[in-house]
Amino acid sequence: MSAFSKVRKHRRTLLLGLSASLLAACQTAQTAQSIWPAAAVPPATAADAAIDARVRSIVAGMTLEQKIGQMTQPDIRSIKPDEVRQYYIGSILNGGGAWPAMNMHSSVDDWLKLSDEFYKASMSTDMTVKIPVIWGTDAVHGHNNIYGATLFPHNIGLGAAHDPQLLERIGRATAEQVRATGITWAFAPTLAVVQNPRWGRTYESYSSDPELVRSYAGAMVRGLQGRLGSPTSVLATAKHWLGDGGTLHGVDQGETRTSEADLYRTHSAGYYGALAADVQTVMVSYSSFTDTASGQQWGKMHGNAHLVGDVLKQRLGFHGLVVSDWNGIEQVPGCTKWHCPQAINAGIDLIMVPDDWKQFIPATVEDVKAGRIPMSRIDDAVSRIIRVKLKSGLFDASPATGPHPDASVMSSPAARELAREAVRKSLVLLKNDGGVLPFKRSGKILVVGAGADSLPMQSGGWSLTWQGDNTKTSEYPNAETLLASMRKSLGADRVDYSADGTGVDVSKYSGVVMVAAEQPYAEMKGDITFPAPLRHSARYPQDLQALDRVSGKGVPVVTVLYSGRPVAANDLINRSDAFVAAWLPGTEGQGIVDLLFAGADDRPAYDFAGRLSFDWPAGDCLPQQGGYQFRRGYGLSLGGGSRLGRLPEAPVTMACPAESR
Ligand code: GLC
Repeated sequence: MSAFSKVRKHRRTLLLGLSASLLAACQTAQTAQSIWPAAAVPPATAADAAIDARVRSIVAGMTLEQKIGQMTQPDIRSIKPDEVRQYYIGSILNGGGAWPAMNMHSSVDDWLKLSDEFYKASMSTDMTVKIPVIWGTDAVHGHNNIYGATLFPHNIGLGAAHDPQLLERIGRATAEQVRATGITWAFAPTLAVVQNPRWGRTYESYSSDPELVRSYAGAMVRGLQGRLGSPTSVLATAKHWLGDGGTLHGVDQGETRTSEADLYRTHSAGYYGALAADVQTVMVSYSSFTDTASGQQWGKMHGNAHLVGDVLKQRLGFHGLVVSDWNGIEQVPGCTKWHCPQAINAGIDLIMVPDDWKQFIPATVEDVKAGRIPMSRIDDAVSRIIRVKLKSGLFDASPATGPHPDASVMSSPAARELAREAVRKSLVLLKNDGGVLPFKRSGKILVVGAGADSLPMQSGGWSLTWQGDNTKTSEYPNAETLLASMRKSLGADRVDYSADGTGVDVSKYSGVVMVAAEQPYAEMKGDITFPAPLRHSARYPQDLQALDRVSGKGVPVVTVLYSGRPVAANDLINRSDAFVAAWLPGTEGQGIVDLLFAGADDRPAYDFAGRLSFDWPAGDCLPQQGGYQFRRGYGLSLGGGSRLGRLPEAPVTMACPAESR
């Protein structure tokens, strides 16, 4: 073939390739238009125009290395303050279980001091315009990494409260706690709409109901962000975009198989609520997406230019910053923990590269120089980061030495009272046969179950440490287990305790409070791997054994279940006169006492208002397979009467049938 005809053939191939990719781009843009309504993002104001002008001017004066440094987010365990200066780092985070000097008992002042060191380092670079570093933290149920902080119920309990206004107040209180430590960004709220309770992060979800999640998202974002730029405002994070709660078998970081239309209908409702509340950051999901309508296997969200670029940024009009999850970029085919042009080209602006950030920066600089990442994409990413920082007030004052809330907000009487109210509103009464609740205060009570005296089990994951493990009740100085709260309220002489119910004469008591509970967990460590049974006693047989020892003795038994998800519990319910789903209540055990026991006048001081925000399984498999014991929305009140009677106790199902979600 002549040289000329080779050129002509190559040009034809190029043109065909170009038109194919243009066609694909048009198709995905059309899909974005047809499936995704525009979001009600608050309109830009004159102040925004001024900020945009300032952004353009700052970016224009930055070198490529400074821009890539601005897009880099290491964990505080792998970077020293002066390296923030040296490498122009834009953001840092403390992952779960990272504290100043790796001391879990760090004081609020220790956090402030470290924040000040990082801030000062970022303002000491040789840049024309210094850009302050921003610190992000997982404050997902209060400022949960901080020793002594008041912890609110996890999201699954707040979902049962059906009270968006309560969420906004909790967001406000959390923002004050976070700002008191010199941090200005919370990686919350999680907006997953969980479809399979096998997922270890089910408790981070408000509900399987998209509309409840939508109403909550806006409330929590307004609570956290308040008036952007004020000393009590923190950036909120809508996470994890998109479909994290829809993976097959609830596998953490797994594959969400559904149509794009369903992805919109079921999984995006919270984001519309968050965007309408002007959320400033979005975190991308580890999960992957396969479109069952078109058959397209989009793969990992961290490389999905259609859903991150076309949909979130273009169609929904999100103008804040998109951050990757912890080493999330390595899951994109062809990428590593420290190198992923695909993720940046997909629309991710800030890369959470906790440890390998020193490799990330030169590798990404090289990507830009080699044309693998267009400079326009880098400039867009850096502009979004700087715009968010300008709106957050970071350029105006140091979060550590500028105005900020006092350390007392960490566990103030107001914070504890709010958390106690949230606990009350989150409890769901599933059974109260014979109207045994509320117990009278004048009786003598036996308390049974390890969870009754364990703040780690009462608080769940993301509490002091990532997994909520390797801690003990004594490391929660401003908190009360249910047992401690009962002894304070009723008098220690009226409350006896046995962790396993052995060796006690139940007939001596007027009532028994049994606490069944899970060991704390987070993320993949909490998955109940398919086809294992959803039955609580299959994972915690000791709770059923303890209940067997104290039930059926003619003394009323109320069982309180601490769990991060709805579980099959008919065996426990049958051995209880009353049964309360308490989820993961956090530090205020008193909120449970408020409902289990009458007031001084022997009349109910409060009533159960909680209603399930998830369906509850009758058997060991998903409710859709093994039947629904209670539907979403179920919950009793005290005066309502309950005649649940005996529930079916099928033999443990060793393997559940195939699941479609
Ligand atoms: C975790 C979680 C994410 C969290 C991040 C930082 O892996 O997926 O929700 O914000 O890492 O801790």
